[in-house]
Amino acid sequence: MGPVSVIPELQGRGIGAQLMREALARLSAQGASGCVVLGDPSYYKRFGFANEAGLVLPDVPPEYFMALSFGQPMATGTVTYHHAFGMTR
Ligand SMILES: CC(C)(COP(=O)(O)OP(=O)(O)OC[C@H]1O[C@@H](n2cnc3c(N)ncnc32)[C@H](O)[C@@H]1OP(=O)(O)O)[C@@H](O)C(=O)NCCC(=O)NCCS
Repeated sequence: MGPVSVIPELQGRGIGAQLMREALARLSAQGASGCVVLGDPSYYKRFGFANEAGLVLPDVPPEYFMALSFGQPMATGTVTYHHAFGMTR
């Protein structure tokens, strides 16, 4: 999941939470096993994301990398993002 963004003038009205819940529902409906996110734990943990010791995104502070399973056993291993996420570097 990401990036998630709401323009500053409209933040704090629940739009981010609605975006997150809708995106997670769509992912689940498409048959995804779960979702990972890299971001502020104090925001994303409210949607059920948690740090998972067995699921690693290299080269980032582990406390900012979280996962959510859609009712299945949590995946383990090393995560790689789609190459599109690296195209602005
Ligand atoms: C994070 C973001 C998408 C939230 O959108 P939003 O519409 O303001 O969120 P909501 O109104 O649903 O939720 C507001 C709550 O989130 C908290 N919050 C907002 N941004 C936060 C952040 N970066 N870290 C932690 N908490 C955050 C607010 O304090 C508020 O908490 P409360 O419910 O306890 O009062 C928005 O603040 C944003 O676009 N930030 C800049 C981009 C960013 O940091 N994106 C995340 C990285 S992928």
